[in-house]
Amino acid sequence: MNKNTEKNTAPNIDEVLHSALKELNATKTLESLDEWRVRYLGRKGIVVQLKRSISDLPSAERPEFGHAINSASALLEEKLLGQRTKISTNNSPNHTESIDVTLPGIPINNGSLHPITQTIRDICEAFSSMGFEIIEGPEVELDHYNFQMLNIPKHHPARDGFNTLWIDQEDDSGERPMLLRTHTSPMQIRTMEKQDPPVRLVVPGKVYRYEATDSSHEWHFSQIEGLAVDKGITFANLKGTLYEFARILFGEDVKVRFRCDYFPFVEPGAEMAIDWNSRTKDTDKNIDEENWIEILGAGMVHPKVLKAVGYDTDKYTGFAFGIGVERIAMLKNGIDDIRLFYNNDIRFLGQF
Ligand code: DAH
Repeated sequence: MNKNTEKNTAPNIDEVLHSALKELNATKTLESLDEWRVRYLGRKGIVVQLKRSISDLPSAERPEFGHAINSASALLEEKLLGQRTKISTNNSPNHTESIDVTLPGIPINNGSLHPITQTIRDICEAFSSMGFEIIEGPEVELDHYNFQMLNIPKHHPARDGFNTLWIDQEDDSGERPMLLRTHTSPMQIRTMEKQDPPVRLVVPGKVYRYEATDSSHEWHFSQIEGLAVDKGITFANLKGTLYEFARILFGEDVKVRFRCDYFPFVEPGAEMAIDWNSRTKDTDKNIDEENWIEILGAGMVHPKVLKAVGYDTDKYTGFAFGIGVERIAMLKNGIDDIRLFYNNDIRFLGQF
């Protein structure tokens, strides 16, 4: 006879169950959960020991104890599974306490083209559709191309208007031959020197002026130069081309105006303005009133300029124009301060 049999009473399963569940709830990691599993449900664990102890009990108590230990074991297995799911979910990187699907999403900061780049592309596309080639040129330019070949010799008063930034490097005669180009016009010369007519080109690019900045002046800005040289080109071609440009950019109903102006490299010279009010069909506004805004300088290429590059002025004529890009971008987008383009303020740039 087993000598312990008489003394033994059934261990208190409720107490064991109580502390097992309490410890289970306290597990926070899969490691501690596994330790708990080995302690209670492992091969040498508490539950197995309890089951083994059945044989120590008086036979009358055994069925009831056996039943209780089996259901306690089943309950612990079930709770173990639940706790494992809970820990895995809490520790997963995607876990959020709760998701409010009505909240706005996290915005993605998409980049966009700078408004000046967009405007340059629009303008170039308009001229490209009329058969103009798009070329670029150097921003550090020679006095020779920026002024002299454009009929602006040394000491010509027109130089005063260009507020030039000179490169601090002298040649043998003590002159400073280089500068930051004040306009894109030098590319007229550089191209004509290399190419015989017909020439049809537009030149987008940065230009630089020694200028105090304010809402309508920047010390650097963008221009688009245009040039067309061929047999029989007249002022009518100039007007037709620039009118078509205005129509593409500002709409079918835009009104344009040409007036005389002076630029040393063209004769006759002109400025073209558009009637800002004519481009809106908004009938609420008083569109009878005209609002002329100058958008470019232009003219017939001066014979001196054509001769300087070796073109035969009896055979060839041409027209040229220079567009201020910021001006167009400001008009099109209702912007009243040129400095906004270059402040790099994402609140402004993000709108384009
Ligand atoms: N280069 C001139 C400027 O910067 C603009 C200009 C005027 C260009 C008339 C032209 C032109 O080609 O014909 O002020």
